[in-house]
Amino acid sequence: MFASIFLIWLCLVFLVLLLKSQRPKNFPPGPPILPILGNILHLSLENPLKDFERLRNTYGNVYSLFLGTRPAVIINGMKAMKEAMVTKGTDFAGRPQDLFVNDATQRKGLILADYGSSWRDHRRFALATLRNFGLGKHSMEERIRTEIQYTVDTLEKSIGNTLNPQVMFHNAASNIICQVLFGTRYEYDDEFIKVIVQCFTENTKITNGPWTVLYDSFPIIHDLPLPFTKVLKNVETCRNLVIGLIKEHKKTRVHGEPRDFVDCYLDELNKRGDDGSSFSEERLIMYALDLHFAGTDTTSNTLLTGFLYLMTYPHIQERCQQEIDEVLEGKDQASFDDRHNMPYMQAVIHEVQRIANTVPLSVPHCTTKDTELMGYSIPRGTLIIPNLTSVLNEEGQWKFPNEFNPENFLNDQGEFVKPETFMPFSAGPRMCLGEGLARMELFLIMVTLLRKFKFIWPEDAGEPDYTPVYGVTLNPKPYRMKIQLRATQ
Ligand code: HEM
Ligand SMILES: *[C@@H]1O[C@H](CO)[C@@H](O)[C@H](O)[C@H]1NC(C)=O
Repeated sequence: MFASIFLIWLCLVFLVLLLKSQRPKNFPPGPPILPILGNILHLSLENPLKDFERLRNTYGNVYSLFLGTRPAVIINGMKAMKEAMVTKGTDFAGRPQDLFVNDATQRKGLILADYGSSWRDHRRFALATLRNFGLGKHSMEERIRTEIQYTVDTLEKSIGNTLNPQVMFHNAASNIICQVLFGTRYEYDDEFIKVIVQCFTENTKITNGPWTVLYDSFPIIHDLPLPFTKVLKNVETCRNLVIGLIKEHKKTRVHGEPRDFVDCYLDELNKRGDDGSSFSEERLIMYALDLHFAGTDTTSNTLLTGFLYLMTYPHIQERCQQEIDEVLEGKDQASFDDRHNMPYMQAVIHEVQRIANTVPLSVPHCTTKDTELMGYSIPRGTLIIPNLTSVLNEEGQWKFPNEFNPENFLNDQGEFVKPETFMPFSAGPRMCLGEGLARMELFLIMVTLLRKFKFIWPEDAGEPDYTPVYGVTLNPKPYRMKIQLRATQ
């Protein structure tokens, strides 16, 4: 008797769960959903790329997956991407607020802030501040140039030898953003930068791993002592370092004469007083860490991919150098404005960004209201995963979608053209706010280094492997480059 009641009860629970785990009406299609587990068994937690490929082939450009009981919609291809990110930009401009990464950044940063006035004010402030100190004026270029000199010095020490450029590019990107944020650069062995890099590297690794998918799928495990507790500890360590820097700034700053981003923010705080805005010193800590995080791996991984291809396509490297020599003849350094006279170099840099595919799934979005996409209905609060890869190598949109070829950005007259499908920075209201800075960095660094050095794939390095290491940001497998001083200097 008791057993049969228990069995009936079990069946009922199962039935309720099964009904609860159906897709909402007119929701994008996807694989059948299991109660509680959702589609988690459809994915390899270590590297789900193959599974995604299969799902897209089966269900189309807009499909859905359930991570546990959480529905997610994956967007592929230019047509759907443009409708979501641009045409219906504000409908899709939210960020999910209950993921592991939200807990890790304590909901105070900018990248993961939900759509609303606090995000908008901070985004506007960052764009204006970056512009005022330079993007457009000279001082930003000066900051970048100062740092490039250290990269050049590092390379000069390796002339005739080989070098793994990973640490060098990482430090360059990190120092440029530190110059902007804190007005200082750090020696490569400085404690401050070593600790920050160590924390970020560890956190990226854990965040990329299977534990995060489990965390996001199953809220019950949040308080268990699993590897993600390490992430929270690392964030605390970085926070304390930045708190120290802000204290320093408050002691030495001159009101109205900001030296860097932190000073600008402190001025803004004074200006706003107690106007009830979302600006606060507490907020500045995570905001600064966010900008550093967003600006470092992205830029340095793009450079790593760039030099891998330039070395292994020597005729492309030589053609860049030819153009650089012609345009910069008689000048001691490159300026960002020179790009207008360098269509080939521009094409190469864009092609590097296209093929590097540095942020393959962008940053997760979230719908801000009930909306529609390609005829499907998507309720408010649905997790949205924009597949930027699917646009950057879309068949029919590029002359050579699957090969490294600068012709993708050149017309018949050899002029530089930028197709709409070039979206490594995403598009719409949430588009990367560091685009201007990143493009200036990529141009000045690549042009300066190519002008001075020849980069050679070492004879004993075997065949180059272009397959990227899977993660939130992609980077090439470690490689070494052989450095020669160019004869034409
Ligand atoms: C090659 C370098 C870079 C690439 C490929 C890149 C790419 C991206 C992508 C794909 C997004 C997500 C956009 C979306 O959610 O739709 C993003 C957001 C963001 N990026 Fe970048 N980024 C780069 C460099 C930088 C730099 C140098 C900074 C520093 C100032 C930066 C700051 C940010 C910020 C703050 C966001 C969040 C914007 C928001 O949520 O409103 N990025 N970036
Ligand atoms: C994104 O697009 C690429 C290329 O079309 C594909 O290989 C990959 O599986 C897609 N990822 C997802 C999550 O749909």
